[in-house]
Amino acid sequence: MDTVMEVITGRRSIRRYTSEDVPPQVLEDIFAAVRWAPSWANTQCWEIVVVSDQQIKEQLQGVLSPKNPACLAMINAPLVLAVCGKNKVSGFYKGEAVTRHGDWKLYDLGLATQNILLAAASHGLGTVVVGAFDHEKAAGILALPEDVEVVTLVPLGYPDHAPGPPGRKALAEFVHRNQYGSLHE
Ligand SMILES: Cc1cc2nc3c(=O)[nH]c(=O)nc-3n(C[C@H](O)[C@H](O)[C@H](O)COP(=O)(O)O)c2cc1C
Repeated sequence: MDTVMEVITGRRSIRRYTSEDVPPQVLEDIFAAVRWAPSWANTQCWEIVVVSDQQIKEQLQGVLSPKNPACLAMINAPLVLAVCGKNKVSGFYKGEAVTRHGDWKLYDLGLATQNILLAAASHGLGTVVVGAFDHEKAAGILALPEDVEVVTLVPLGYPDHAPGPPGRKALAEFVHRNQYGSLHE
């Protein structure tokens, strides 16, 4: 079993997949990884729609710009997970936002999504987070109720390529000591 750091650093966005199906037990593990993600006051606002129907995948592909690098992944992956969340739950108390950040749904879904990516990677599966698409059209295709929004689409399958890691900032560019501006050496 790889260490957490090996899975974190070894994970890559995958945009081409083999036709091999995702085993049901592995999918259950990925759902469990969502279930155990942290969330605001344990509110767990997430809702995951698992898309395996090729026609729905094609419709979802249509809500991406053809220039989106993940366009082909939408129909090429055996599954697409639509990561959705209930509005006004995370960061809310008695219907009122508790902080200036309002709805913390995006934050909680980000944590849940990272768990999806890492759980998938630990099983040798590839994923790519897709955030640039017409969210309103996607909600219609997914038949979402009014109080639920789709945030990202995550194609999931076995990788058909092994891209190298894109560059990352050095620690000295973003880690500050005690106060902002005193950068890590
Ligand atoms: C919120 C979010 C939205 C993203 N949207 C897209 C997208 O619409 N299309 C795409 O090809 N990749 C998308 N990505 C993937 C990023 O481009 C990718 O994570 C980044 O380039 C780093 O590469 P890596 O994941 O291999 O480390 C998105 C990633 C995140 C976190």
